[in-house]
Amino acid sequence: MASLWGGRFEKDMDQIVKEFNASIGFDQRMYNEDIDGSIAHVTMLGEQGIVTKAEADEIIRGLEKIRKEIASGEIVFNVDDEDIHMGIESRLIKEVGEVGKKLHTSRSRNDQCQVDGRIYLRREIKEIIGELSYFEEVILAKAEKYADSITVGYTHIQHAQPITLGFVFMAYFQMFKRDIQRLQDTLERMNLSPLGACALAGTTMPINRQRTAELLDFDGPTENAMDSVSDRDYALEFLSDASISMMHMSRWAEEFAWWNTSEFSFIAIDDSFCTGSSIMPQKKNPDMAELLRGKTGRVYGDLMQLLTVMKGTPLAYNKDFQEDKEGLFDAIDTWKACVQIFARMLEKTEFRMDMIEKQLGKGFLNATDIAEHFAKQGIPFREAHSIVGQMVKACENKGCDFDGLTDSDLTSIDNRVTKEMLGDISIKACVDARKSFGGTAPSEVRRQIRVGTEWLKGI
Ligand code: ARG
Repeated sequence: MASLWGGRFEKDMDQIVKEFNASIGFDQRMYNEDIDGSIAHVTMLGEQGIVTKAEADEIIRGLEKIRKEIASGEIVFNVDDEDIHMGIESRLIKEVGEVGKKLHTSRSRNDQCQVDGRIYLRREIKEIIGELSYFEEVILAKAEKYADSITVGYTHIQHAQPITLGFVFMAYFQMFKRDIQRLQDTLERMNLSPLGACALAGTTMPINRQRTAELLDFDGPTENAMDSVSDRDYALEFLSDASISMMHMSRWAEEFAWWNTSEFSFIAIDDSFCTGSSIMPQKKNPDMAELLRGKTGRVYGDLMQLLTVMKGTPLAYNKDFQEDKEGLFDAIDTWKACVQIFARMLEKTEFRMDMIEKQLGKGFLNATDIAEHFAKQGIPFREAHSIVGQMVKACENKGCDFDGLTDSDLTSIDNRVTKEMLGDISIKACVDARKSFGGTAPSEVRRQIRVGTEWLKGI
């Protein structure tokens, strides 16, 4: 089949060239967006008198018919179509005849593929924000449920200070909140229409780019035609957003895998989110958590791929840019699926407070609190720190915890210190007292939940 651009060619493309060159295999998922862009374009051409109103209407009728035929599977594309833009345009010419050849006036595939890409991504971003918002709802509900439940807080994977489980949830809530905000920012910056940039330099025709932008729900047209056809940073921004969010999920997935071990047993991941082993009958593996971690590498790859594709390309359009799509689609699909899986896995995960409690007596979680008690009683914090450090050592020698130290043990460390000065160092008292803004006290976590809930309502 001769191509729509075949005028200056004497030979058809070689079959392996056709296959290598074609993007139809992956860009046909943008067929709806391509048709929306074409309808806006031809509507504007009609309004500007570049085609007649009747011609515009006939082209729109043809495009809507093609939309239905693609959706129903009646139209099946192949490499002869090259890409979705050519695929639809050649079907249109078959459907409406000569008038179909007027659609491509004042338009190039260079701006067309970018309109499609932006409309497509815009819709997907809204969906991902929806999925992340649901995830946030699940996190808030868990935070509320476990607002008073005490667990071990770690630094360097060592017991550090007691915290509430609600506090842990709210830490992740903040990360996914920023992920949503990053997407909102990306959406705002990318929501400009490249349509009418044409090949690279605009057109001599009296088009109205403001009008097509308006018809397609963009905030306006892009400023510079050459930039419009060669910019892929909206996609890179999305891929960066995706990578950061996947990194957040991957960190939590790593914690899930640890918490699920027999050593920790802090959680029991629901059977429906685990898999068994083909050889070891007893196994219940946290595969979803591991896949979430693994798929993070894949999304980073998508980002690196496009950054690398773009780095040496001169202005304006280069065919290299066709490589912008597969990684982008892959990241969209992967990120969306990961958020869906994580939210549902979290929803069904029970925290085993009995197992967590067993860990609370280990590792001197209240050591910082004692140092702070001493500091409140006039001992400079740096000295208090050293005294408590020596107390820990004394406990280790005696094989006891702080309660097991006698007054004489304490005065032999520092003669200013008595047992009475320790104050209430129960784990619960330690947690309840951390009421500083952003701290772990249940009252403070509940404040964070309130602020988070309000913010989520506004999404
Ligand atoms: N399939 C191409 C892409 O995705 C469309 C633009 C082609 N433009 C061109 N001049 N070859 O980038």
